[in-house]
Amino acid sequence: MPSVQVVHGEVICDPARIRALDPLSADGVCLRLPEMNARKDVGAITRALAGILPSGGVSAFSEEDCVAAMRDLGGFLGSLKRHAVQPVDAVPGLEEVLVELGRRTRMVPRDTVHHYSEFNPSGPRRRMYTGDPQEDCLIGVTQVSLTQLSGAVEVCRRLSVSDPGQAEFPVLLTELAEKIGSFDVAMRDVARKIDPSFFGRELRPYFEDIQVGGATYAGPAGSQVPLFLVDLVVWASDHGSEEFDEFRRDAAPYALPHLRVHLPAWERAPSAVTKVSRALAGYRSIETTPTVLRDSAGALAATLRTLVLFRGKHLTYARKAYNGAVGLYEAGSGGGTVDLLREILDLTRHNIDLFAGSLSERENPRKQTRRPLGASG
Ligand code: HEM
Repeated sequence: MPSVQVVHGEVICDPARIRALDPLSADGVCLRLPEMNARKDVGAITRALAGILPSGGVSAFSEEDCVAAMRDLGGFLGSLKRHAVQPVDAVPGLEEVLVELGRRTRMVPRDTVHHYSEFNPSGPRRRMYTGDPQEDCLIGVTQVSLTQLSGAVEVCRRLSVSDPGQAEFPVLLTELAEKIGSFDVAMRDVARKIDPSFFGRELRPYFEDIQVGGATYAGPAGSQVPLFLVDLVVWASDHGSEEFDEFRRDAAPYALPHLRVHLPAWERAPSAVTKVSRALAGYRSIETTPTVLRDSAGALAATLRTLVLFRGKHLTYARKAYNGAVGLYEAGSGGGTVDLLREILDLTRHNIDLFAGSLSERENPRKQTRRPLGASG
């Protein structure tokens, strides 16, 4: 029996095991989906989707089978919508299966970015809408980022209950910055290997909303990557904004249950920015500040800079892909615009500025130009 990890009662799925599963015997038909899309053959896509629907229901499926089944149905959902067809109107019995798979996995009743990238097998079994190497690349880099994000969330769990005066605090922040560094690497690969017009014109149409059970669900794109969990612990629980909170509330239902489960506690807890700023406020000068606290401050600044590096590259790329001359859409698949990305980048940067101000006051205690950060927390 494989060992099972549990966080606050939520089982952590094993991505490698899910990637290996093919509970609907859909390997062959998933491989043919890009051809059907290229021909805009709605009839073939509809028949293929109806053909892999589990006729006896999913009660005999394990939870991991259910996740893999949602992944495979998902490719056909986005494809039908790309050709202007609401999937649940086209295939009898589909809606019930999607609702049941959502219920069994405690997720939304459609595929998410976790299904499309983290749980997508590589090589000949790769599930794609277009079959283009650029799509393969996007799935691959997002898969790596999501794997690193799972590790980052585990680090955040320990960081959220740690104190800047403890030796582990800067060590945890450094580990966190390393894991988040993979996002920056991902965007560098995206910028090098994926033409913004390929994303904007060819791929983006597959990430449109669909209707299931009378509600609307967004397609499985990068905006669902729950990086906001890291933001909450680092700065956003008490230095966010209404827009950021709204974005987070919209995106949260698409995150895996064992990641989402941390939200209530992390939304209420003081952020690392507040904890470090409050601790620093107890010392009049940098010379009298304990080394561990100085290390915590340095590691926190480095972590914030890593988030800014990713967001800077991501914004530059998104601007190109959503430029009216290139892309077909004004908003991202999550409904947010490039302006939202600018807002989140500015907020992350603003936290570095506030924090740097709080540090420079220690270096020069007479220069009290900024409100101490801890005061707003
Ligand atoms: C193919 C290129 C990409 C484009 C054009 C793009 C575009 C966008 C847009 C327009 C948004 C705004 C929200 C929305 O869609 O409603 C967004 C959000 C987001 N995307 Fe991407 N994205 C891309 C790739 C990626 C990749 C590869 C990752 C992660 C590895 C990623 C991670 C995120 C995250 C975490 C957000 C939430 C906002 C934030 O935390 O800054 N994106 N993206």
